[in-house]
Amino acid sequence: LEVAWTLEEAQKGGYPDFMSKEIAQQPEALADTLVGRLHPVEGIGLDEVRIPEEELRRVDKVAVVACGSSYHAGLVAKLAIEHWARLPVEVEVASEFRYRDPVLDERTLVVGISQSGESVDTLQAVRHGRDNGARALVVCNVVDSSLAREADGVLYTRAGPEVCVAATKTHVAQLAALELLALHLAQLRGTLAPKRAGQLFEALAALPDLVAQAVERGPAVAAVAETLLGARDVFYLGRHVGYPVAMEGALKLKELAYVRAEAYPAGELKHGPIALVEPGTVVVAVATRQPLWEKLMANLAEVRARGARVVALASDGDERTAEHADEVLWVPPTEPLFSPLVDVVPLQQLAYEVARRSGRDVDRPRNLAKTVTVE
Ligand code: AGP
Repeated sequence: LEVAWTLEEAQKGGYPDFMSKEIAQQPEALADTLVGRLHPVEGIGLDEVRIPEEELRRVDKVAVVACGSSYHAGLVAKLAIEHWARLPVEVEVASEFRYRDPVLDERTLVVGISQSGESVDTLQAVRHGRDNGARALVVCNVVDSSLAREADGVLYTRAGPEVCVAATKTHVAQLAALELLALHLAQLRGTLAPKRAGQLFEALAALPDLVAQAVERGPAVAAVAETLLGARDVFYLGRHVGYPVAMEGALKLKELAYVRAEAYPAGELKHGPIALVEPGTVVVAVATRQPLWEKLMANLAEVRARGARVVALASDGDERTAEHADEVLWVPPTEPLFSPLVDVVPLQQLAYEVARRSGRDVDRPRNLAKTVTVE
């Protein structure tokens, strides 16, 4: 008997690499993370978070600690928790947190976010929080990981094993878990009107389908990727909830394609970075509808006036955004604070396509490890 494929090929399940397989698995990762936690009538139920509800009600500040893509998920969580639960949230890269003497006490909830549950910086940051009296909740993908054991409570993402070094399906699952947490805190604190809460639960339940639609649009993204080949620098712009998405898109392009990519909150451009914009500079704008959309359009007009080529992520049918762009990546619309879950998909695909066309090993980028267990 002769077997014509290797074990690794079999694990890829017919996909050319793990990254494309994991991008395709995102609707499932998202649906699995929501199932049993989102109920049409009662709303969010997070019984597995072992921190008692009375304690969560007493929390007066949230401190989020994480690295890389998990940090970007934390920036989205800040917007969601502050807006819906009316709780102040600070977000910090875990490697800096414990070295600046943060103000913590027993009413602080430290939220550690980590796919692996083994990033030593995040582990130490969570430990620092607990040593200073805070309660710690961890959002992670690996059952019984070091972080899961360290924390008072765990909210697992259910994305399944992720092999590619670049986070994709685990990032989307983290975003889903954090949206659930934000709405759960809002429910406990009574800060969301029932009617609005109902609309949000419905929108959350619809997300796996929207993410599936976004994934299916891969061929359109591949065509845009062709036009990015050879670009030396790429700027990613976003505002409000689009900014962390821009950061995640830039990280993906850096780590996979080795192209210098920087993300800016678009309003900051005029304070320096616009000096770098010249004819041919590529600007990727997360321009789906969010509260600061009009202002973002003005920023795009500024970069185009200086010769930049704009690739815009736009909500389906939004011709006004298309007018400000040279190329459009269409995405299905959702509630603004849920949009990162959908909008990140074409940016993952864009980085993937540029990297693959440039001959990079997308699953194992140079110099990187999947889990970083050294400081
Ligand atoms: C993401 O694509 C990166 N490979 C990296 O930034 C990663 O998100 C970071 O190292 C954090 O890992 P963790 O979620 O396992 O803690």
